[in-house]
Amino acid sequence: MAMSDAVGVQPGFIPYQPERYSPAETAARAAAFHEMVRGRRSVRQFSPEPVAREVIADLIRAAGTAPSGAHRQPWHFVAVSDPALKARIREAAEAEERAFYGGRAPQAWLEALAPIGTDWRKPFLTIAPWLIVVFKRDYEVVDGERRPNYYVCESVGIAVGLLLAAARQAGLVTLTHTPSPMGFLSRELERPRNEKPYVVIPIGYPAAEAVVPDLRRRALEEICTWR
Ligand SMILES: Cc1cc2nc3c(=O)[nH]c(=O)nc-3n(C[C@H](O)[C@H](O)[C@H](O)COP(=O)(O)O)c2cc1C
Repeated sequence: MAMSDAVGVQPGFIPYQPERYSPAETAARAAAFHEMVRGRRSVRQFSPEPVAREVIADLIRAAGTAPSGAHRQPWHFVAVSDPALKARIREAAEAEERAFYGGRAPQAWLEALAPIGTDWRKPFLTIAPWLIVVFKRDYEVVDGERRPNYYVCESVGIAVGLLLAAARQAGLVTLTHTPSPMGFLSRELERPRNEKPYVVIPIGYPAAEAVVPDLRRRALEEICTWR
């Protein structure tokens, strides 16, 4: 008998009882997850070492488990490893970033970026073995009609969060990269009109000489109120 045929379960629903842990084990697992994600950093110096395609597939599968408004799953992931395509993406991104850092960005934004040490150069776009380019789908076309998606940015943001955590869990490093503007990604990757670029995520191993800015994260007391 299929689960959905169980007595008392409405059609279209299935029973759901995920794993339960003792209070002590719950606390230990919550602490262990925090310990794992706490070590995630945005890395801008990558090693060219390869990462298996099936690993990238699992990271994207994990991202695809995210909740989404009305379960519309309004995302598409383009996994790029082709060196020629990565080179074209880097060239286009650097052209946009040169304009951004060379005057298009407001002074306050440049000042906020100063401690992170970024500039227009994006060598990681060709050195990292994979770029996952995430697109958000604002609407679907069904029988020639536009069908809107809901809470698209929120849904895609959650999916990207899961992807970053999955990469960290696998011992890989990532960058959340948002060249501004990103329209060139739709052209280079030949995506349909209902998709807009959301973020570029280089993934791989860190270079031996990789460094990250010495940032401080806000403590729980600063980000949480108990009522
Ligand atoms: C939406 C978003 C966009 C970002 N865009 C860029 C970017 O274009 N280039 C970059 O070097 N870092 C970018 N970052 C990375 C942030 O600078 C980084 O997350 C922040 O400094 C905190 O560092 P951490 O990720 O190591 O904790 C972005 C992060 C987010 C969440």
